[in-house]
Amino acid sequence: MLPQEIIRKTRNRETLTKEEIYFLVKGVADGSLADIQAASFTMAVYLNGLNKDEVLNLTLAMRDSGEVLSFDDIDAPIVDKHSTGGVGDKVSLMLAPMLASCGAVVPMIAGRGLGHTGGTLDKLDALKGYKTSVDIDTFKNTVKKVGCAIIGQTSNLAPADKKLYAIRDVCATVESIPLITASILSKKLAAGLKYLVMDIKCGNGAFMENKKRAKELASSIVNVANGAGTKTTALLTDMSSVLGTSVGNALELKEALDYLKGEKINTRLDVVTKELCSELLINCGIASSKGSALKMLEQSINKGYAFDKFIKMAECLGADTSILDNYENKLPKAKYIKPIFSIKEGYVTSMDTRKIGLGVIMLGGGRVNPTQKINYTTGFTSFCQIGDKVDKKTPLCYIHAEDEDKIQEVSKLITDSIEISDKKVKTSPIIIDKVS
Ligand code: URA
Repeated sequence: MLPQEIIRKTRNRETLTKEEIYFLVKGVADGSLADIQAASFTMAVYLNGLNKDEVLNLTLAMRDSGEVLSFDDIDAPIVDKHSTGGVGDKVSLMLAPMLASCGAVVPMIAGRGLGHTGGTLDKLDALKGYKTSVDIDTFKNTVKKVGCAIIGQTSNLAPADKKLYAIRDVCATVESIPLITASILSKKLAAGLKYLVMDIKCGNGAFMENKKRAKELASSIVNVANGAGTKTTALLTDMSSVLGTSVGNALELKEALDYLKGEKINTRLDVVTKELCSELLINCGIASSKGSALKMLEQSINKGYAFDKFIKMAECLGADTSILDNYENKLPKAKYIKPIFSIKEGYVTSMDTRKIGLGVIMLGGGRVNPTQKINYTTGFTSFCQIGDKVDKKTPLCYIHAEDEDKIQEVSKLITDSIEISDKKVKTSPIIIDKVS
């Protein structure tokens, strides 16, 4: 087979066979396909799309480009959640131990911050000693012993995706539904999942800002994942305001731990976490109804089971768990913590969530270049919610900074990002739609 003839077919909107797709993907993984050919293929896909069978075959070829894990020796449902990324989205930190304490098994391969969105791995890195990069045996042993483990993509899980993603990133071919579908699912399927729930974010803090595109992506992922034998549903959730009240790595880790301890529970964060957990508990047969799923999840928090699972997972992955006994005082803290006030009194009506995410990067809590070391302590806490009243005594949020010079610039970005009006507006529901 000749790569240029295969690329030519996609360029001309002809359908590729399974063999042709496997040939191209093998070439990406072993380096026999030149980067310019891989880039041309992604551009042809970006412009012309792929049909359903082609997306499925591309996903399977990328999954099979490396090791495919199997947890067949575990007698429990293997489940996971994946989010398309948001601002303040710390759901994975809570969801994995909650599901594990309900009897499911969660081998979660998570990512770092991307663009203006935060990443689960960066949040876990704020916990001293926690290793997000471990060998497959340590990962599998933690999953078996605890019921959940959250780590980063290893070099032998879906290596074709790693290469192709880096190429797409610099060739303006990231925002393609077939390519995003294959990229996300190749990694998830390589982790040996039987059940998956997708959290497709939608709104001004999401990559898919409008509902139509978010729904298209949800349908594509649900179709392909089910076609590959992993029962999958997707929730479209609102990302037009920050999720929860903290944004930034150690600050979000603290909010997640507070949640697992049953303290300071933010309603929208609680709803989205429990809805995603319930989807999985029902689909995998652990719960017979939404009511029973919610009861199990509440018990997992109230009886301390989920917090205990988090400690055990962190211990197996090398963390200094003495920090978790008194995390309030022991998690790293920023040098400067200051309130940011609105210039006018009134009600919060909207926020530019993407800009708020960029504020964390400006404070050093996200990357400007891929190899940059980040600052775990920076970000925002007590973030106002849509509908909240703010005045001279009630700040929009508190800024956490290491560098005094940044405070003024980022405070201005926050006040510019939040719209205040005299009239209270209704908050939009966090769950927008479901695709199954
Ligand atoms: N996340 C991924 O893993 N892949 C994409 O293509 C986009 C988001």
